Amino acid sequence: MTESGINFLAMPTKALQGFVDREKERLLDDLKSWLRIPSVSTLPEHAEDCRTAAAWLRARLEQLGFRVDTIETEKHPILWAAGPDVPGAPTVLCYGHYDVQPPDPLNEWVTPPFEPTVRGGNIYARGTADDKGQVFCVVSAIEALAATNGSLPCNFRLLIEGEEEVGSKGLTKFLTAEPDRTRADAVLVTDVHMAAPGYPSIDTALRGIVHAEIHVRTLKKDLHSGLYGGAAPNAIETLWHLLEQLKGPNGTIRIPGIYDRVAKPAAKELAAWKKLPIKEKGFRDEAGAKALNGEAKYTFFERIWARPTLEVHGIVGGFTGAGAKTVIPAEATAKCSLRLVPNQRATEVAGLLKKAVKKAAPKYADVTVTILSASDPVQTEIDAAPVDVLDRAYREVWKRGLSFIRSGGSIPIVPLLQQRKAPVLLTGIGLPDDGLHAPNEKLTLDQFWKGVVLFGRFFELMGEERRDAGRR
Ligand code: BES
Ligand code: MN
Ligand code: MN
Repeated sequence: MTESGINFLAMPTKALQGFVDREKERLLDDLKSWLRIPSVSTLPEHAEDCRTAAAWLRARLEQLGFRVDTIETEKHPILWAAGPDVPGAPTVLCYGHYDVQPPDPLNEWVTPPFEPTVRGGNIYARGTADDKGQVFCVVSAIEALAATNGSLPCNFRLLIEGEEEVGSKGLTKFLTAEPDRTRADAVLVTDVHMAAPGYPSIDTALRGIVHAEIHVRTLKKDLHSGLYGGAAPNAIETLWHLLEQLKGPNGTIRIPGIYDRVAKPAAKELAAWKKLPIKEKGFRDEAGAKALNGEAKYTFFERIWARPTLEVHGIVGGFTGAGAKTVIPAEATAKCSLRLVPNQRATEVAGLLKKAVKKAAPKYADVTVTILSASDPVQTEIDAAPVDVLDRAYREVWKRGLSFIRSGGSIPIVPLLQQRKAPVLLTGIGLPDDGLHAPNEKLTLDQFWKGVVLFGRFFELMGEERRDAGRR
């Protein structure tokens, strides 16, 4: 506070806050209409919905005066949009995705996944936090700037894709062919969440992923388990022995060579994690587990952020219908993925997995490994001017600066976004309990409204930064 009683720190955000106060209802209605489009990228029957969701955003960006390219891929279109030219201002590239995960199990949703509903200060729907709500937050911040200042402080580039949840193949191809599309002074990736309520953060690393399907066939067809049992090989049994050979009970991955390139986090980073408002007990409660497990030699933070993992997502095979059917299944499939950490390489790990499965497969079985997607882990630079700018913006709006955390999740395109060396800022207004990929996914509305002001302020400060640099 100054003598006159005016809080100058709060001043710059006032106009943005005014916009939010005036436009709240309309913005919320608009977000709801986007959330109603079930743009589930992995299910072929939703391909048209993905197209509709892309078109929805395209129209929105055009209203804001953006020039939008729709880039076709083998699956769902990419939007690359450029805002009005602002000579001398920095270029900020904002990345996000409009595709969402499948909503099942449907019966666990309190209100249907594609009927966005506000309850207790949260908006519930598939895609609220991951990632339409966060994309819409950034877009609304740009709208707020245009409405309150009459002009924009940065040259905006928006890159919004529809295949993030399935490995970003189309976008990888596009950016490999046209690397100039990522040219910027800073890249803002709003597809992550904060460390905790009240603790804005940046992810300094994300895990990579190798997604695979292991298929086992032991017989030409299913057989009577009485007539053939004891001598005919069971595909499910073969699969479980195989999986057992890939991962031990204490979380250790048994794939030879898997740990060769795993980098231990710096002592400083490990020490900083201990001070975060993230506690093992809270994590356990939120996960709804009686106890946590994993590699006993490693701390909780290392296990969730800095160690590779292998998870089985689903097993298909045999008879699972009502009643009883005595059968020896001829085939079985496991869908699984490995999470990778710095400095592992996805293609290398995919090779190790294939080799390990081949070695573990018994002679009597046909075993195949299909790699569904592979993306590298990333680490981001924190000694960069845009990180300081973001820190200032959070201090103004959230009254607290950045915590530096990691995330165990993956965003496949981030390694490519780094190709032009512009600092990549992994930050978001989501919270750890948003329930990504789970029933009753939500976004807290207060976070959203504050986020509009925050991103608006970040862009303004980016613009000022460049002008100051110009004067120097
Ligand atoms: N937004 C998430 C990843 C994320 C969430 C990172 C929270 C950090 C904090 C992203 O949409 C996601 O779910 N990615 C998939 C990628 C995969 C399917 C290729 C993932 O991590 O499983
Ligand atoms: Mn996401
Ligand atoms: Mn996701």
